[in-house]
Amino acid sequence: MNKDSKITVFGGTGMLGSAIVRQFNKKGFENVNAPSRKEGFDLLSKEKVDSYIDVYKPDYVFLVAGLVGGIQANNKRQADFLYQNSMMILNVLEAIKNYSPKTKILYTGSTCIYPKENPQPINENRFMTGPLEDTNKGYAVAKGMGIVACQLYRMQYGINAISAMPTNLYGIKDNYDLESSHFIAAMIVKFVNAKKNGTPLQFWGSGKPRREALYADDCADACIYLIQNYDSPEIVNIGTGYDHSIKEYIDIAERVFNYDGEISWDASKPDGTFEKRTDIAKLKSIMPEYNPRGFEEGLKTVLKEDFNFDVS
Ligand SMILES: NC(=O)c1ccc[n+]([C@@H]2O[C@H](COP(=O)([O-])OP(=O)(O)OC[C@H]3O[C@@H](n4cnc5c(N)ncnc54)[C@H](OP(=O)(O)O)[C@@H]3O)[C@@H](O)[C@H]2O)c1
Repeated sequence: MNKDSKITVFGGTGMLGSAIVRQFNKKGFENVNAPSRKEGFDLLSKEKVDSYIDVYKPDYVFLVAGLVGGIQANNKRQADFLYQNSMMILNVLEAIKNYSPKTKILYTGSTCIYPKENPQPINENRFMTGPLEDTNKGYAVAKGMGIVACQLYRMQYGINAISAMPTNLYGIKDNYDLESSHFIAAMIVKFVNAKKNGTPLQFWGSGKPRREALYADDCADACIYLIQNYDSPEIVNIGTGYDHSIKEYIDIAERVFNYDGEISWDASKPDGTFEKRTDIAKLKSIMPEYNPRGFEEGLKTVLKEDFNFDVS
């Protein structure tokens, strides 16, 4: 990859995509393109994807677009999550095959592709070894299909497609809509509302389940490293290597927000899987310097950038 390589980030307006664009801009890359729906580009339109790849013929493509959401959105719109996430990767692979077969593509799946029950930490070999979580089956099946599609286009057509599996992400430009957000974004919004408006703070379940949370810019660094240094059909986890309980995330947020009000727990709401931690040994073997930041540091940056909230 050179400073003038033609790089396309599909999903460049999203949390991970904008972090990838930000990292490239910081490093002085001159030819980074992020076509967006606002400008009329749509990954669900085969014609638009064909025409873009045919005209632009990128050297590198990051497919980090997707229909993405938390448990509620995933559960309510399973068919939409299945259809849209499937069509995006198929349209892009087919266009690359037909119009620009030398393009290298990095596709992001998700750790939701793993079965609902796993030995911890979750190793890449767990893919397709057991039943999926029911609440996000549409998303998980589409993401798993995307991985297999990358492997099959590589096998049959020699397309240089690699797949990475990010764990739960948070960061600048996260989705803060409480109806469709992930846990960390929802927690941040609740704390911001509690601090600004005195809204009572309530969280679901027992607070005991353990989860990872990876800062999007650290995930972006890993994606950029992988597209330059990894060339294999086998998937690679992008996790943190450590986790916290939900309660521990809330304790950190309490400290960062300097919040001294009440916090209640709605024990009638489900906890979900007790533990879900990814094995990052493979990523570390490819990228030894990978060392994602701790949650407190990432949280402070998000509060400053997205909420203009001074927590120093
Ligand atoms: N967030 C997580 O915790 C997480 C965890 C594991 C894996 N991932 C994966 O990582 C990737 C990035 O996630 P994210 O959280 O950054 O997502 P995000 O913030 O919701 O961004 C999604 C991006 O996809 C674009 N997009 C959606 N539908 C599109 C369409 N039909 N045509 C063109 N662009 C479209 C959006 O563009 P608009 O601006 O036009 O909406 C946006 O740029 C996704 O593949 C996701 O599945 C995310």
